[in-house]
Amino acid sequence: MAATQVSTTPFDGQKPGTSGLRKKVKTFQQPHYLENFVQAIFDTQRGLAGGTLVLGGDGRFYNREAIQTILRMAAANGVARALVGQGGILSTPAASCIIRKYQAQGGIILSASHNPGGPDEDFGIKFNIDAGGPAPESVTNAIFERTASIDRYLISDAGAVDLDAVGEQALDNMQVQVLDPVADYAALMEELFDFNAIHQLFNSGGFRMCFDAMHAVTGPYAVEILENRLGAEPGTVMNGKPLEDFGGGHPDPNLLHAHDLVALTQGAAGLDFGAASDGDGDRNMILGQGFFVTPSDSLAVLAANAHLAPGYKQGIAGVARSMPTSQAADRVAEELGVECFETPTGWKFFGNLLDAGRITLCGEESFGTGSAHVREKDGLWAVLFWLNLLAVKRHSVAEIVREHWRRFGRNFYTRHDYEGVDAAAAGELMDHLRILLPDLPGKRLGALTVEYADDFSYTDPIDGSTAAHQGIRVGFAGGSRIVFRLSGTGTQGATLRVYIERYEPDPALHDQPVQEALAPLIVTARELAQIEARTGRREPDVIT
Ligand code: G6P
Ligand code: ZN
Repeated sequence: MAATQVSTTPFDGQKPGTSGLRKKVKTFQQPHYLENFVQAIFDTQRGLAGGTLVLGGDGRFYNREAIQTILRMAAANGVARALVGQGGILSTPAASCIIRKYQAQGGIILSASHNPGGPDEDFGIKFNIDAGGPAPESVTNAIFERTASIDRYLISDAGAVDLDAVGEQALDNMQVQVLDPVADYAALMEELFDFNAIHQLFNSGGFRMCFDAMHAVTGPYAVEILENRLGAEPGTVMNGKPLEDFGGGHPDPNLLHAHDLVALTQGAAGLDFGAASDGDGDRNMILGQGFFVTPSDSLAVLAANAHLAPGYKQGIAGVARSMPTSQAADRVAEELGVECFETPTGWKFFGNLLDAGRITLCGEESFGTGSAHVREKDGLWAVLFWLNLLAVKRHSVAEIVREHWRRFGRNFYTRHDYEGVDAAAAGELMDHLRILLPDLPGKRLGALTVEYADDFSYTDPIDGSTAAHQGIRVGFAGGSRIVFRLSGTGTQGATLRVYIERYEPDPALHDQPVQEALAPLIVTARELAQIEARTGRREPDVIT
């Protein structure tokens, strides 16, 4: 079999967004579309030739086909060894784990995360670097630039690899190793968490939980770890079979899309613990009986209690959160006397801090939590961390969070999303806010005085790189904040995200409903950005 050189011409818009290149399946199915992008990876990431490449995806429609194409291209581009998840499956955190463990030169992960899958839905591809994390902007920019001038790609004409047979195969001169997608990841989890304590919790008879894999990639991981290794009752994992279209659902673990799971935790007979993950297994949602833990609070609670899990018993070096994430973790870091970093949205911004040992835990309001164990956010990891806390503390989820609020105060928090907004109108809304910024400090908006207002920009403390225009922050005296940002992951129109936060130190006021507690700030946000006038929307489409 030989490597063939195929002539091609560039496609517009192969620019990776917050998390890789995401487009409709139909876009990827155009002749040469996937190939161009993959060749741009090989052309710019020279270490892959002669090296090891990790490859897998979330199992969505077009996953297997894309994997076969990428394998044939990898062989033609001189990759020495490809590590592929069985069935083409690798969760994003498992891919990160495998890149690190086998010292690969990089990985290609096929996923559009929480976006729906199927022939008319989304597909995605992203490149992770040798440290195991998403490629930094310097790398994604180089790949994008290459896509703009690409004129040929290399592909082997060898036949298909048997993706279902664990073990070694050859594709031309490349060794292909099909791996059990769960084993390495599960072994890492056993190192980090107290599996005995969790096992006992499950055996106690007094604890009932459910994990919703949403017919996405975490099904096999959750069944192996929760049911087989930790002894949770069979059936604890719901929607555990990965399906190409995620069963027609939207594999996004939030109150809207994981409503079946939410329902199971409601009422006096509700489950003690509910958790879910997304399409590619990096997001998490944590629920107690009738209780939703915001991702921002989850990060803060894990940071405050990290020493209770064996993998973190030495304490944490520091913590980081994305800018729109609530400031709850900052208060914990302050009390622990460790550094706290505010980074732009996107997991890639945590990479340098993790590599340098400046932080141990990090998280984002977008249902992402993780640590230095891999370089991606990690859904099941967060679930196991919570189970470890529940097993050690023997308190309910709600008790643990309420106790946390009593100790640190509560950061009431909500995110309002306006989806599918006209892109030009959304851009103008942000421009309008930017124009207002210089005059805001010192001004009263509603009952609060603006302390600072800026367009967030970040300078990475490790490599000095900067990222500007990362969202509008309006901070008020007393710790309240409004943040405006346009989503970087949507595939249709623009999504305006408005993040609203208010700090409440008084425990007597911690039980107000969130939307009520934040109502005046919500009004302020809508007025300031002229949301209705500029987008025609009276109310957000999604509130989390
Ligand atoms: C992906 C990234 C996250 C990021 C999120 C933000 O999930 O992996 O790191 O927080 O996108 O999405 P947005 O739509 O708000 O840009
Ligand atoms: Zn994801």
